Amino acid sequence: MSDNRKNALLSPDVMRKTFDFSEKMRALNAERTAASGKTLGVYVLTFGCQQNVADSEKILGMALKMGYESVDSPEKADLIMVNTCAVREHAEKKALSTIGQFKHLKAAKPSLMIGVCGCMVTQEHRKEEIKHRYPYVDFIFGTSSLHRLPELLYEKTVKGKRLFCPEEDEYLVAEGLGIERDSTYRAWVSIMYGCNNFCSYCIVPYVRGRERSRQKEDVIAEVRGLVERGYRDITLLGQNVNSYGKDIYKNGEYTFADLLFELDKIEGDYTLHFMTSHPKDATRRLIDVMAGGKHIARHFHLPMQSGSDAVLGAMNRRYTFEKYIRKLDYIREKMPDATVTSDIIVGFPGETEEDFEATLDALRRARFDMIYSFIYSPRKGTPAAELDTQIPDAVKSERFDRLLKVQNEISLASNRELEGKTLRVLCDGRSKNNSGVFSGRTDGNKIVFFDAEDSDTGKFLNVKIERGDTFALYGTVIK
Ligand code: 5AD
Ligand code: SF4
Repeated sequence: MSDNRKNALLSPDVMRKTFDFSEKMRALNAERTAASGKTLGVYVLTFGCQQNVADSEKILGMALKMGYESVDSPEKADLIMVNTCAVREHAEKKALSTIGQFKHLKAAKPSLMIGVCGCMVTQEHRKEEIKHRYPYVDFIFGTSSLHRLPELLYEKTVKGKRLFCPEEDEYLVAEGLGIERDSTYRAWVSIMYGCNNFCSYCIVPYVRGRERSRQKEDVIAEVRGLVERGYRDITLLGQNVNSYGKDIYKNGEYTFADLLFELDKIEGDYTLHFMTSHPKDATRRLIDVMAGGKHIARHFHLPMQSGSDAVLGAMNRRYTFEKYIRKLDYIREKMPDATVTSDIIVGFPGETEEDFEATLDALRRARFDMIYSFIYSPRKGTPAAELDTQIPDAVKSERFDRLLKVQNEISLASNRELEGKTLRVLCDGRSKNNSGVFSGRTDGNKIVFFDAEDSDTGKFLNVKIERGDTFALYGTVIK
């Protein structure tokens, strides 16, 4: 088997430098703590997708190694890290306004360190914006430089000069950074990073680099360790999770389906999920592995984006609606009880009323359990943003409302079909906005409300569904 691991992994020298800086920072923090009698606090704020959530768990892991303790508000922090997203304009605006709010904290406590990282600041124009308009931000690093956090923090603390870390020439995989997981029973495992697809609307390939996979041994060891430590729900992550392995195992010698097959053999009481998938890599073999799996959730999140072939072509998605629906039919044939969810974008440049209606028809045909719907947001540097056929905002929001109306009826019908069925639900404890009531998720990631006990949190429960609503299920625990 070909092994290109040296190409995908950061060199041991680079990693050693990271660990050395981490130790230096730890020693420095120990002195500061001894002088003040107070452990320094770190607050990590995350915007965007699960990949960012997983990165933030690494950031927190690195910070704890450097002697910080996690605090629950920015006011209590000595180090604030803002992990940003760039996928839509809304996400960027939210991050910028949040960073703006930290100005007064810095004024009140000049020793406070503020670092900004993630997809937004991997773009040159945003890096410049932070540099000039947010002078109280101490350091910035992009998605290729997560491992440089200890170095930047140390240099800034010792020398006091603001640091703007340039992007690495090559995006590589850093192993062994340490992860501080937020939950004791749900875990995120990044198995590959980056994207090679260049869908014409998407910023991801520009801010997360080319696809690079972790070694299968590293992934398997991590998942096995999580199962052994009692994790019940493990989600394999990648911008393009099902193209796992293509960069390091040539000629399809080892694919995502192979990895899933091998992981499924790990003994224990747990469920495996994965996201996000590109339809082009949703192979029959992958679907067969899912259908035959013991621990693999029968849930496929398969973004369709549009039901119009003209729009799909302009998006550079490399499939037609017909091709997509054939895969979906195969999923349903092999797993009639599968939950299928999707992403849809409305108002892509040039989308005509007929194109949009094709998307509505596609929803009626596909009958997804749920969709994540988005209004097209032009992203600087992507081909679609340059098109002169941009759709007016009013048309985009009118289409968005019509899309939701069609899908909400389908979601309601699909949830009603579950009434009377007993589903396995992972209990997440008391729901925050429905006081007293507990909530959990089905294998298909549907939210369920029920009565339970605090000791049920983190456990699988059998819940009989009494009522299905558009966005949630309501049921009774069967003991
Ligand atoms: N505008 C709107 N939605 C977008 N997405 C990605 N880029 C854009 C954009 N520029 C959506 C896609 C993708 C999901 C994560 O975000 O539907 O699948
Ligand atoms: Fe973006 Fe397309 Fe890559 Fe998904 S597959 S991250 S939508 S470019």
